[in-house]
Amino acid sequence: MRAIVTGAARGLGEAIATRIVEDGGDVVLVDVDPAVEVTAKRLSAKAPAATIAGVVADVALVEECASAVSGALAVLGGVDLLVNNAGIGGPSTPVVSTEPEAFRHVLDVNLVGTFLVSRLVASAMLAQGAGGSIVNMGSLFGQQGVPGGAAYSASKAGVALLTQSMARELAPQGIRVNAIAPGHMATEMHWDELRARAERAGTSFEEQLAAVRAEIPLGRHGTGADIAGVVTWLASADASYVTGQTIGVNGGVFHN
Ligand SMILES: NC(=O)c1ccc[n+]([C@@H]2O[C@H](COP(=O)([O-])OP(=O)(O)OC[C@H]3O[C@@H](n4cnc5c(N)ncnc54)[C@H](O)[C@@H]3O)[C@@H](O)[C@H]2O)c1
Repeated sequence: MRAIVTGAARGLGEAIATRIVEDGGDVVLVDVDPAVEVTAKRLSAKAPAATIAGVVADVALVEECASAVSGALAVLGGVDLLVNNAGIGGPSTPVVSTEPEAFRHVLDVNLVGTFLVSRLVASAMLAQGAGGSIVNMGSLFGQQGVPGGAAYSASKAGVALLTQSMARELAPQGIRVNAIAPGHMATEMHWDELRARAERAGTSFEEQLAAVRAEIPLGRHGTGADIAGVVTWLASADASYVTGQTIGVNGGVFHN
């Protein structure tokens, strides 16, 4: 398995890259944060025989995506799996007080970034002629709008239908495109959100943590391993009849 994982310097992306390597695959980790090179070195130390590289690139920028993807293809000698995991949380402000640039930036990273990397990797997969798998990171909040989360929700809802459209376009060539919609995951992104909520509400981080946990039927936050397991399944032959789907990985949380 030759994989490209974006947003892999830390969090869910790092966990996904780690699982790919544990399963015997090769991986290029892409991230805007130069720490991605440290993450890649850490992974290489665990699996010296694997091909692993870290590439610094902003998925919102056309030229940086082009050089990251061509570099990754050269390192890996082709690509079987792309995981579009890079994402940002965005402003926690009501629409009426959200600056247009802040709104656009969330769309640029979460939605346009997914499109930019996907179009390049899908074209490489088409040229290889052997199918492939693309997994996009949506969100629970791409399935349900929330006050103060308009940009994030809109971006992740966009990811779900970008996923469906690409799945239908690429199905004849055996390229499957799916999305995962994580719920409340134990990562820095979620801790930042809880800190912001605590500040707004004048409560403690611990109170916010307990309140979120109480909403999760399975009684715990999700982990990178929970997401990595589903990525692994989606990329495997066991999911060969699954495309265009958004799979909730959320401990049973759902909204109507
Ligand atoms: N943590 C959660 O509760 C949760 C819930 C639902 C969905 N998600 C989604 O899962 C994905 C991973 O989230 P996480 O919790 O691991 O967050 P995180 O903040 O820990 O990691 C995100 C990574 O993406 C990178 N990144 C951000 N902007 C980038 C850009 N423009 N180009 C390249 N890399 C960029 C960051 O540097 C970081 O390493 C995101 O798409 C996020 O929206 C997370």
